[in-house]
Amino acid sequence: MTLPLLQLNSVGVHFGALKAVDRATLHLRAGERVAILGPNGAGKTTLFNAITGMTPATCGTVLFDGHDITRASPESRAQRGIARTFQITNLFFGLSIEDNLLLATRGLSPAKFSMWRTDRAQGAEKEIVDSALAKCHLASKRSLLVKEISYGEQRQLELAMSLTSSPRVLLLDEPAAGLSPAERVVMAQVIRGLPSTLALILIEHDIDLALGLVDRVICMFQGTVLVEGTPDEIRRNPQVQEIYLGKPRHA
Ligand SMILES: Nc1ncnc2c1ncn2[C@@H]1O[C@H](COP(=O)(O)OP(=O)(O)OP(=O)(O)O)[C@@H](O)[C@H]1O
Ligand SMILES: [Mg+2]
Repeated sequence: MTLPLLQLNSVGVHFGALKAVDRATLHLRAGERVAILGPNGAGKTTLFNAITGMTPATCGTVLFDGHDITRASPESRAQRGIARTFQITNLFFGLSIEDNLLLATRGLSPAKFSMWRTDRAQGAEKEIVDSALAKCHLASKRSLLVKEISYGEQRQLELAMSLTSSPRVLLLDEPAAGLSPAERVVMAQVIRGLPSTLALILIEHDIDLALGLVDRVICMFQGTVLVEGTPDEIRRNPQVQEIYLGKPRHA
C-alpha cells in the first residue's frame, strides 16, 4: 500500500470561537481524484487554505510527500507541488492567453514583462505553455486577449495557469461556478482529461458534475468531515441527501 501523498490529521482552523474546520482528517494518494461537497460555510475553502498555507491550521498536522508542512509558507508548499486555481482577478485582461501563461510560468509581474523584448516562450518555457494550452483546450485561442474570450475560457485559463508549476496536487475551488451549461461540459472535459498522475481535490456545488469526475467524495458539514465514500455511496447516503441536498432525493 503506497503512502498518501497528502495527509491531513485532525486539522482545525479556528477563527476565534468559530471552528471553520474542525478535526478534519483526509488523505489523498498520487493521481487520486476527490470531491469535497458541503453547503455554504461548511469549511471547504478554509480546508483548502490550510493545505496551501493561506490560513495555516490552528491545530492538527498537514503532511505532503512525507514532510510536515503544517507551518510551511504558501511559497514552499507551491514549490513542493501543491497548486490551486488562480482567481479570475489574477488574469491580465489586456494580455493574450499565451502571455498570461508565460507570466505564470515565470512568476513575474506584468511590469517586468516587456513586450519590447524578444521575449516569447522558448525551449522549456514553450513546452510548459503549449502543454497547459492543450490540456485546457485553449491552443487555438492562444493569441486572443483575455478581455476578448468568454468567462468559461477565462476559467479554463486559470486552470491552465495553475498547471504551469507542474503540480502533483491541484486544488480546484468551484471551477464551474458561474458557467453556462455548455461551458460546464467543456470544463468537465478539461478536468477529466488532466494527467492521471495529477491528484485532484475538487470543491463543487454541482453534485452531478462533481460525482462524475472523481473516485471518492468527502462531504463536509459545519467544519467536520461528515461522510466519505464512493460517488455511488454518497448518492445513496441519507445523511448527505438530508444535509447537503436539504431534502430526501427520490432517484
Ligand atoms: N478569514 C476568516 N475570518 C473569519 N471567519 C472566516 C474566515 N474565513 C472563513 N470564515 C468562516 O468560516 C466558515 C467556513 O467558510 P468557508 O469559506 O470555508 O466555507 P465554504 O464551505 O467554502 O462555503 P462556500 O460553499 O460558500 O464557498 C464560514 O462561517 C465563514 O464565514
Ligand atoms: Mg468556498
